[in-house]
Amino acid sequence: CREIAPLTLEINRLKREKDAVILTHSYVEPEIIYGVGDFKGDSYYLSEKARESKAKVIVFAGVVFMAETAKILSPNALVVVPDRGSGCSLADSITGEEVRRLKQLYPDATVVCYINSTAEVKAESDVCVTSGNVYDIVANLPAKRILFVPDRLMAQNVRAEMKKRGVAKEIISSDGTCVVHDEFTPAQIAEARAQFPGLKVVAHPECTPEVAAVADFVGSTGAMLSYVKTTNAPYFLMLTECGLVGRLEVEAPEKNFIGGCRLCPYMKMNTLEKVRQALVAPRPEQIITLDEGLRRRALRCIERMFELAP
Ligand code: 13P
Ligand code: SF4
Repeated sequence: CREIAPLTLEINRLKREKDAVILTHSYVEPEIIYGVGDFKGDSYYLSEKARESKAKVIVFAGVVFMAETAKILSPNALVVVPDRGSGCSLADSITGEEVRRLKQLYPDATVVCYINSTAEVKAESDVCVTSGNVYDIVANLPAKRILFVPDRLMAQNVRAEMKKRGVAKEIISSDGTCVVHDEFTPAQIAEARAQFPGLKVVAHPECTPEVAAVADFVGSTGAMLSYVKTTNAPYFLMLTECGLVGRLEVEAPEKNFIGGCRLCPYMKMNTLEKVRQALVAPRPEQIITLDEGLRRRALRCIERMFELAP
């Protein structure tokens, strides 16, 4: 506490001096979220905040694709990341060049990219989606054939949801997966249910379709948070990154969580010390820069999401 408190105070002072805001994803450490963050939430909410921001500096405590998205939406701000190594197994699974090759194979497909993708991939896509709006956006697209990148498991979940809704879509996908969410299994859920009667299982759409099929609720981290806060149950099993459980333990202390969540090594690269350093004197690799032509093309696909999102 003696180390965290002065650092927290210093970062809050630096924010005022530099006209900076700190956007924090729910997976980062609580001392960042609650100690220095201005906004906390999921990818969609944080994109909205980046788009509305008038601040000179945006520090993105999340992962690099989120900071790139902030730069696409707020090009005049200096956008910095605490750690340039904070990648994402989904975003890093496919390049813009590979998307171009897939587009040649499926020229009649509408290209839908999950927001967990690089600016290059967004620039090649027709519309961006997040975990909170993916089903509704895909269902309402006029195209029958969808090329979905980069999450293979989310694509499978979309396929199952379209079938459930009676919407005819052919979903073709690339092969990325999230290193956190692809590890959860139906057997783990069955075991937990046997041990904890009345348990509610809450999963993210990056989980496998087998997991999604037996969960009580599937949604974005923002929707998972709301579901737990508004649902009466003796226990919850959270099939997502442990940071979300951390947030719920603070914001809904009356709820009981049983083990299951996993750590994202990329999100956990964010520390208060690195946030301070990124504010004081960001190194070149911590500053997000994008070619203007590429940024404008990537912006089109994100703006399309804002138009189509429910
Ligand atoms: P959310 O937008 O639901 O927070 O998901 C982001 C993410 O990276 C999940 O692994
Ligand atoms: Fe990427 Fe998975 Fe980490 Fe989310 S939890 S940032 S999808 S690696």
